Amino acid sequence: SDIEKGTYSYYMLKEIDEQPFVVRKIIQKYQDNHGELMVDGKIISAMNKADRIYIVACGTSYHAGLVGKQFIEKIANVPVEVHVASELGYNMPLLPEKPLFIFISQSGETADSRAVLVKVKKMGYKALTMTNVPGSTLSREADYTMLLHAGPEIAVASTKAYTAQIAVLAILAEATAKARGINLDFRLIKELGIAASAMEILCDMKEEMEQIAREYLATTRNCFFIGRSMDYYVGLEGALKLKEISYIQAEGFAGGELKHGTIALIEDGTPVIALATQANVNLSIRGNVKEVTARGANPCIISMKGLEAEEDRFVVPHVHELLTPLVSVIPLQLLAYYTALHRGCDVDKPRNLAKSVTVE
Ligand code: G6P
Repeated sequence: SDIEKGTYSYYMLKEIDEQPFVVRKIIQKYQDNHGELMVDGKIISAMNKADRIYIVACGTSYHAGLVGKQFIEKIANVPVEVHVASELGYNMPLLPEKPLFIFISQSGETADSRAVLVKVKKMGYKALTMTNVPGSTLSREADYTMLLHAGPEIAVASTKAYTAQIAVLAILAEATAKARGINLDFRLIKELGIAASAMEILCDMKEEMEQIAREYLATTRNCFFIGRSMDYYVGLEGALKLKEISYIQAEGFAGGELKHGTIALIEDGTPVIALATQANVNLSIRGNVKEVTARGANPCIISMKGLEAEEDRFVVPHVHELLTPLVSVIPLQLLAYYTALHRGCDVDKPRNLAKSVTVE
């Protein structure tokens, strides 16, 4: 590849480290000359006309879509559904009068997503593609494109594309809110800047994450990620990262759902990584940690400054409650990275996986 790894042994670690810069670049790229965040007027008008948004994606991009739903609903007050592309192909939901489809795809080449795009275009609906690759198939075939500006992502396990998708989705939500005359009680551009700085701090905490990886995941056969609300979605991504590159059986769960079945799998020493970055569910997720600990689990709480408690293993800097995925995902990416490294796995080229899947 003509993209250099420099001093890094793996692209994945380089790409994890690039994330704060990618978020800053996105802030620049989506700024007008008054220093305000800005999105193409045609896209905002399509967002404004829509009575419901359908986000369609696969893998990590789907996980970013789950976060994007929260942004668009909470910031811009438009209802959103998120679907994995392969299911939507044969399970098209009953559509409202004016749906708008948003395809999220790092590569812009994923066949499952493309099949849905072709279908909705045939049905006469508008589509926006959010992609890292200008001129990619999904970009060309959609009505509108928003670029991720993350730079080429080489490692199969997606990292910087995920945080880029989240930043761009936040900007889209804010621009839509503005156009709809909604007054927000925070300035997104400022909060994204704060998040970028926090991301930088986390990228400098590799040794701590390497230590946690060794402590919890060196020899385990399985691992659970729990969280509520935003933390649940980030837990899904953390579990996906871990299974993709370390081959540990990992699952993400909504904290409250664990007791409805999966808690049966908790054995002595089973690692349970719990995210606690959301004030409104802080007590309940800590309650879930107590439940699994009572059954022998080895809990690792990753919380956020302002919500931390003595039992926490790692605390991320404080950021706006909607933007926590940008920071909380970094320790999970690093955990997956160091676990894979420790277990002697090929971090950048995991078995059975492809960077972009161009077959359905
Ligand atoms: C593949 C990759 C994943 C990625 C997914 C969607 O399965 O291995 O890392 O999340 O495709 O890719 P896309 O390019 O559409 O975001």
